[in-house]
Amino acid sequence: MKEHIFIGAAWPYANGPLHLGTLAGCLLPADIFGKFNRMAGNDVLMVSGSDEHGTPITLTAEKEGKSPKEIADRYNAQHVKNIEELGITFENFSRTSNDFHKKVVQDFFLRLYENGYIYKKSMLSPYCEHCGRFLPDRYVEGICPYCGGEARGDQCDKCGKTLDPSELIDPKCKICGNAPVMKETEHLFFKLSAFEDKLLKWLEDKNYWKDNVIKFTRNWIKGGLKDRAITRDLEWGVEVPLDGFKNKRLYVWFEAVIGYLSASKEWAEKTGEPEKWKEWWEGDAKHYYFLAKDNIPFHTIIWPAMLMGHGGLNLPYDVPANEYLTFSGEQFSKSRGVGIWIPDVLKKFDADVIRYYLSINMPEKHDTDWNWEDFVAKNNNELVGTYGNFIHRVITFTQKNFGEVPPSGELKDEDKKILEEIEKTSREVGEAIKACHFKEGIKRLIKLAQTGNQYMNENAPWKLIKEDRERCATVLHICLRIVKALAVCSAPYMPHSANKIWHMLGYEDDIEEQEWEEGIKDLKKARIEKPLPLFKKLEVGELEEKEPFSKLDLRIAKIERVREHPSADKLYVLDIDVGELGKRRIVAGIKPWYEKEQLQDRKIVIVANLKPAEIRGVRSNGMLLAADDGTPSLLLPNGEVGEQVTVEGIEPEPADVVDFKEFAKIEMKIKDGMAEYKGKILADGKGAVKPDRKVEDGSGIH
Ligand code: MF3
Ligand code: ZN
Repeated sequence: MKEHIFIGAAWPYANGPLHLGTLAGCLLPADIFGKFNRMAGNDVLMVSGSDEHGTPITLTAEKEGKSPKEIADRYNAQHVKNIEELGITFENFSRTSNDFHKKVVQDFFLRLYENGYIYKKSMLSPYCEHCGRFLPDRYVEGICPYCGGEARGDQCDKCGKTLDPSELIDPKCKICGNAPVMKETEHLFFKLSAFEDKLLKWLEDKNYWKDNVIKFTRNWIKGGLKDRAITRDLEWGVEVPLDGFKNKRLYVWFEAVIGYLSASKEWAEKTGEPEKWKEWWEGDAKHYYFLAKDNIPFHTIIWPAMLMGHGGLNLPYDVPANEYLTFSGEQFSKSRGVGIWIPDVLKKFDADVIRYYLSINMPEKHDTDWNWEDFVAKNNNELVGTYGNFIHRVITFTQKNFGEVPPSGELKDEDKKILEEIEKTSREVGEAIKACHFKEGIKRLIKLAQTGNQYMNENAPWKLIKEDRERCATVLHICLRIVKALAVCSAPYMPHSANKIWHMLGYEDDIEEQEWEEGIKDLKKARIEKPLPLFKKLEVGELEEKEPFSKLDLRIAKIERVREHPSADKLYVLDIDVGELGKRRIVAGIKPWYEKEQLQDRKIVIVANLKPAEIRGVRSNGMLLAADDGTPSLLLPNGEVGEQVTVEGIEPEPADVVDFKEFAKIEMKIKDGMAEYKGKILADGKGAVKPDRKVEDGSGIH
């Protein structure tokens, strides 16, 4: 039976590149689900877009000295490009900054207002006297009152609780670090408290939801729902369509979730059937929302309550939220800069390889880790070794000996078994995807490829071709049936390679336009061409993004001779001894601050593998390290000449040469009188390396 399926994927903030966590937790599962449902003949409307308002954007803009619009434009364009490269298909990927969205949001707001679910109230809000402004959401940081972790004004990353800035313990202004005062201001509130009973009632039959999602949601509601402020003191955002709120904007979360509706309406408008969105929002369509767990309450409580308050629109059917993808054990976070960025990963690997690893390693029930060794192993053993290899063997052998799909003769029991296995796989993969058990589905596919390899080995067509050509044709025909099933059933997971396989079988159209049932149907007669390789083997060494600091070769050197630079009055030319690395000459710009005598025979720290440079006519073979807060201060090592200076936890694996640009990106600084990198102290065999003069915290080291 044909169904209407609405799919919403949480809207990524347009304040930085997409990271693998967003792909694993939200975009990829939504896409697999969407692709499958389209093939299964359902009417799919899948939408998302860039979340472009709120403090995530304004803070990034302030940090970069750009306008919020510039930031949003830049990352929206990048996200759109990456989504396309990844092969993710949306009916509409929109933006919250467009006028269409704003209009839909304002209408939605007014409807809630008319229905009595929005009211004005005076409240105390954190205000920074130093900056002269109220501090909405991410502009204030402090301690989470629930778990004691570090939290932002809108949410605690650690326990996932959504917060009101006024709840934070020991709040600080994000911009200047001062403690804000509480100041009275008028805001608009959404009467969330009015929906407690209705929500619990609605949730009663949601036992098919993931355990953690339904439990989290019910507990949250049972803990009591408070009305929520839906305006903020910001200039960037959707205007409030009421008098007296000129300087305020609608809260980003309030308006972004309405994006699911606005993007649906916008899509209908664009297709030339402006009323068509209603088929999904008013009929008995099923609504699925894909997101990571920190977004759960917005989609299972607040958005449903808003929809109830509005009336007449469909509520979520399922919210199969994912856990987190971690990277070597650490949680992804755009704001904290931990993660693997999609644009970088796409430069190195085919989209399908990334999609495969994230599918088979999806954080469905618990956090999973992105691990490079595992990535390589799964690529090499499963994707290349089992899956790609089977397809390659079959196609190559067929092409060479028949040049076309060979006809099937009489079937033996073992052949019939394979055909049954194909039907079973197609059904089971479909059922797994339908139930949002994506991992299970892809594992099932790999199993079919294994079966294929086994069948081929047992029947050895390379022997049959000499002894019994007819039987050989039948065996290959069966093998090709497996290949076809693999192509169709893998299309939701790995659309690019699925399409390649599809074309290898002589089809010319697009695999995503096929029906799911096509996977179990017989082959058409077609020429078989020499195959192109589908996937390639990877090696661990070539992948890992090295910790940039590990590339440096920091050494203790001793100054043996100091001379003035012949043609520059701020420079000295130093002849130094670097122990096992030998003697060399460097040029250093410290003459205004250090006398010759202060330098003679003293130990310094140098970057020994910096690309040699000509400095005013003298070749410099390395660079000395000094802390700089206006007055340079040399770093004082304690260890032996030639010894390495390191940071705890980072094994030095010096590159042959590091160029200056690369070096400049590695931020070392002074904290509590010690030189440090990423919070860890620089040290040699005898202890910490410190500047020889007093230097303020935070100054850079060059
Ligand atoms: N931008 C939010 C985040 O990255 C998600 C917003 S989902 C929406 O956490 F539906 F509200 F847009
Ligand atoms: Zn401030």
